[in-house]
Amino acid sequence: MTRQIFSVIGGKDVASGTAYESINPARPDETVAAVALADAATFTGACRTAAAAQREWARVPAPVRGRVIASIGRLVEANTEALAGLVTEEIGKPYAEALGEVREIVDTCDFFLGEGRRLYGQTVPSEMPDKSLFTFRVPVGVAAIVTAGNFPVAVPSWYLVPALLCGNAVVWKPAEYAAASAHALYRLFAAAGLPAGVLNVVFASGADTYDGLELALTEGTVHKVGFTGSSAVGRKIGELCGRHLQSPCLELGGKNPMVVMPDADLDLAVEGALFSGFGTAGQRCTSLGTVIVHEEVHDEFLARFAEAVQNAKIGEPTGDVLYGPLLDHRFAERYEEYLTWVRPHHTVLPGPTGRMDGTGLYYHPVIVDGVRPDDRLFLEETFGPIVGVTTFGTLDEAIELANRPGYGLSSSIYTTDPKTAFRFRSGISAGMVSVNNSTSGAEAHLPFGGNGKSGNGSRQSGMWVLDQFTRWQAMNWDYSGRLQKAQMDVAEITPDLGFRI
Ligand code: UN1
Repeated sequence: MTRQIFSVIGGKDVASGTAYESINPARPDETVAAVALADAATFTGACRTAAAAQREWARVPAPVRGRVIASIGRLVEANTEALAGLVTEEIGKPYAEALGEVREIVDTCDFFLGEGRRLYGQTVPSEMPDKSLFTFRVPVGVAAIVTAGNFPVAVPSWYLVPALLCGNAVVWKPAEYAAASAHALYRLFAAAGLPAGVLNVVFASGADTYDGLELALTEGTVHKVGFTGSSAVGRKIGELCGRHLQSPCLELGGKNPMVVMPDADLDLAVEGALFSGFGTAGQRCTSLGTVIVHEEVHDEFLARFAEAVQNAKIGEPTGDVLYGPLLDHRFAERYEEYLTWVRPHHTVLPGPTGRMDGTGLYYHPVIVDGVRPDDRLFLEETFGPIVGVTTFGTLDEAIELANRPGYGLSSSIYTTDPKTAFRFRSGISAGMVSVNNSTSGAEAHLPFGGNGKSGNGSRQSGMWVLDQFTRWQAMNWDYSGRLQKAQMDVAEITPDLGFRI
């Protein structure tokens, strides 16, 4: 029987909405879940509910909130196979990767459960006697979190876990095509004992979410927006938040470069290019966009890369495959458009392109050699199993090419020379740099995020995300019994600045 999925606001199902079906992309005629999509007013209502619940939640001592995060981690761990299986069924992610995705939630909970006992503020010396200065981290209030479906449970956890730990309430709008996975994650969070209204999940279209969010921002019930998705939508959310004097946490697309130097271990570079270019069917924001390979090793690299791609197993995601189907029909359609960007000056490898035979949303892997710096294929993100290849002569040229598309999420260099690695690091505009490793597969406790078209400089994961979900409050306490004026009533010690030895 098909699962029926509803939004949950204040702990209660919202039983009405527009019907939507989340399908299994390996067998698109199979429905994974029937979803009732809420309207804009329902989204705004969820923000009001969250705002009301947040006040009590913020009063729960942070170490106690940390225990709730610990319980979420244990619950997710105990439900690993079921959750990973659902992710595989709903978005076609190979099961081994889906297990990794679930692990990433557990890692995130493990990291933040202890943060409940830290959330450190500072004591700061005052410039006057009998006065003390302090800083405190204060929750922002309500966070509206809008996430993509390529990482339907791990990436949401990067927002939800720290947001809740810091004492915020959350309204989460997951991708419709990953609704069943999101709903399962919601239920695991709820089972950990979160009070009703502290975490709400709303399934809605992008347009209704935007309208509902606009009203909530006007009403003052949303204080932080987190968004993972395309640069185009990120821009709109950035504009909307800017009008309300807010800075959102944006995690957007990428055109992630991999530079292969002449001294690189080519087999290692090929392995990295295969995994980051075609793993997850190239549908990670960290997926490889273009290999920028030194002209001396271009032919050898390309031959080995094409062979590896040719031999890769693509198919049923429950099996041992490099990748399965694309996430959903709309991603398949968009990917077919990217294929039309191939030009006569390009060489396409290793064989056929486009949709594979059969009903599943499976697509052939495509390497496009000879991409030029002004090609659309070079400049724009192409979410799907397609990787460009171009050449360079000097490291400076490679860095310029790597920065040229104007994204700035992830990047990678293969070299055996430390000097080259560090010169690349300081020249590249990306928020993340891999040396002798692929562009994808960031660990969950380093800052994750990008610059330029990849984001507005906000960072997720690890301790850095705390600055997204708390604001610093500065406190000064004067116990001198008189008004001591800063900068004016400050003792001076007179130096002899003319002194020389
Ligand atoms: C994404 O595609 O939005 O670093 C996130 C990686 C994963 C996360 C990708 N851990 O590839």
